[in-house]
Amino acid sequence: MSALEGVRVLDLTHAHAGPICTMFLGAMGAEVIKIEPTWGEMTRMFPPLVKGVSPYFMFVDRCKKGVTLNLKDPRGREMFMEMVKKADVVMENFSAGTMDRLDLGWDVLQGLNPGIIFASISGFGQYGPWSDRRSFDPIAQAASGYMWTMQEGINPDGPPLQAVEAIADTIPGFSALIGILAALQYRNRTGRGQRIDVAQMDAMIGVMQSFSFWELAQTTFRSAARSGRVGVSGLHKALDGYVMFSLPAGRITDWFKELLDVEEVTPENVGEWVERRPVEEVVKLLAKTGVPVAPVLDLDQVKANEHAIAREMFVKVDHPTLGEVILPGFPIKFSETKGDITMPAPLLGQHNEEVYSELLGLSKEKLEELRKAGVV
Ligand SMILES: CC(C)(COP(=O)(O)OP(=O)(O)OC[C@H]1O[C@@H](n2cnc3c(N)ncnc32)[C@H](O)[C@@H]1OP(=O)(O)O)[C@@H](O)C(=O)NCCC(=O)NCCS
Repeated sequence: MSALEGVRVLDLTHAHAGPICTMFLGAMGAEVIKIEPTWGEMTRMFPPLVKGVSPYFMFVDRCKKGVTLNLKDPRGREMFMEMVKKADVVMENFSAGTMDRLDLGWDVLQGLNPGIIFASISGFGQYGPWSDRRSFDPIAQAASGYMWTMQEGINPDGPPLQAVEAIADTIPGFSALIGILAALQYRNRTGRGQRIDVAQMDAMIGVMQSFSFWELAQTTFRSAARSGRVGVSGLHKALDGYVMFSLPAGRITDWFKELLDVEEVTPENVGEWVERRPVEEVVKLLAKTGVPVAPVLDLDQVKANEHAIAREMFVKVDHPTLGEVILPGFPIKFSETKGDITMPAPLLGQHNEEVYSELLGLSKEKLEELRKAGVV
């Protein structure tokens, strides 16, 4: 049995922030029905396309059934509303106000199903002076102060810097994920659904420790971490690559001093010790000593890494067009309800027949009629 068995999610999400949330729900056993416009959502076209499939879509839309539905057609809207009655969660990340324009806002959904949990991610939330603005990850990285902290921490004289993975999509996606799980728990107790409003900007502010450093000490996390007693922590160049290690004050630093046979750790004696050894030796010695350490690995090295393999962090996904593909595995290890992230991202409309016949009782003929009319 999986943790979220029996939970049905109507997933209107596109791009990254919404889809990563619903993918995790699917991996934990929810039935996620990804509802796309008949032309497919934007991430399907994110380059480079490999045999017509986007690596992005393939990554972030696993564990979902895929259907097409034109919500602007009255028949499509009607079908969606019927499905809301049989669902637990509706999730979307359109620009704020889009669901209201479709006449599928909170009041409508709640009226159809008082237990429904309706979660939205948007750049700036459903209210507030910036709420009507569109957004992608870099916009939220800029607006939350994150890009400024990257600049301040890496090169204060350079321009602001953008983190290269879509962190300001993933963190909002996980915030919504947590919200949905809490709302399911609340609904189990009370029978009541609720509206969840996650803004990318809020989600980033909410996890940035630098705001506390700034408020209390007029510094940032990175500057504080670099100064004082933890000054030798960080990246070091070994003979054949780079190692990262952390030396907090206390017993870890004492163990490190013993290993190096020095009274004090200084950038000079540490640098000299590391640069004479290959990465593997530095890592082995420090790990054995108890110092937090890792080699700086490239993507191929991570995929081949014995530890990542032992923890099933790369899994085989069998895709109808691409064949077998190796993708990141599920990072939450449950003792009872193992997650599974191997269901491939759906082809456009792949599950129309299955979903619409099971949920709405539509016949093949009716579906064909709706397809010809551009409703599915
Ligand atoms: C990502 C984003 C910038 C894209 O902007 P966009 O392509 O203009 O898309 P919008 O969300 O504004 O609008 C989607 C449109 O498609 C329509 N649409 C979506 N699904 C549909 C469906 N199944 N059937 C018919 N129409 C559909 C919507 O009704 C809307 O139409 P409208 O503008 O006429 O009201 C915007 O969606 C956004 O800001 N999202 C919130 C922040 C976010 O999550 N960003 C992505 C992070 S990865």
